[in-house]
Amino acid sequence: MTFLELVKSRYSVRSYNPDKEVEQEKLDYILECARLAPSAVNLQPWNFYVIRDPGVREKINSCYKREWILDAPLVVVITALHDKSWKRSYDGKDHADIDVAIAAEHICLAAAEQGIGSCWVCNFQADTCAEVLGLPENEEAVVMIPLGYERDHTVKEKNRRTAEEVIRIV
Ligand SMILES: Cc1cc2nc3c(=O)[nH]c(=O)nc-3n(C[C@H](O)[C@H](O)[C@H](O)COP(=O)(O)O)c2cc1C
Repeated sequence: MTFLELVKSRYSVRSYNPDKEVEQEKLDYILECARLAPSAVNLQPWNFYVIRDPGVREKINSCYKREWILDAPLVVVITALHDKSWKRSYDGKDHADIDVAIAAEHICLAAAEQGIGSCWVCNFQADTCAEVLGLPENEEAVVMIPLGYERDHTVKEKNRRTAEEVIRIV
């Protein structure tokens, strides 16, 4: 599979098969792809919380009340370590979210390559999630990624702005 084919094959999965676990080797592979992601000044200001335990899952799911997420066999929460991330010196811009986003997309693309569905979720109650995970003050839950096999495979058209619209040659 070329990289373009992989990119085209990844899409947001919102229907998971609750009876099919993600194999440990596949999860390890996906997490290794996240661990190796680049980050500003290589500071790696992140942690990856792998949540499989049903009790913790229930609490995490209460941060994002959608029926479909309950069926995913596991959720990865990526946190940003704001006391570790690179701040640009001239304006103080914190690059933690950018670093986390790269790692998150490594997870989603690696999962797609392994035949595992995923979905970025940022529209969740981050403060409740931080409480559930017992995060310290400088650690922020940025994105939740459910992982699992899709219930019914769907081929989705990519709905994107055209190249002419988004590429500016200056
Ligand atoms: C930063 C970010 C946040 C997102 N948050 C959510 C979310 O909270 N819930 C959700 O269902 N999808 C979420 N998505 C998924 C987008 O809706 C989806 O990627 C977009 O519609 C393109 O569709 P595709 O992923 O199937 O190509 C998010 C995606 C990104 C990149």
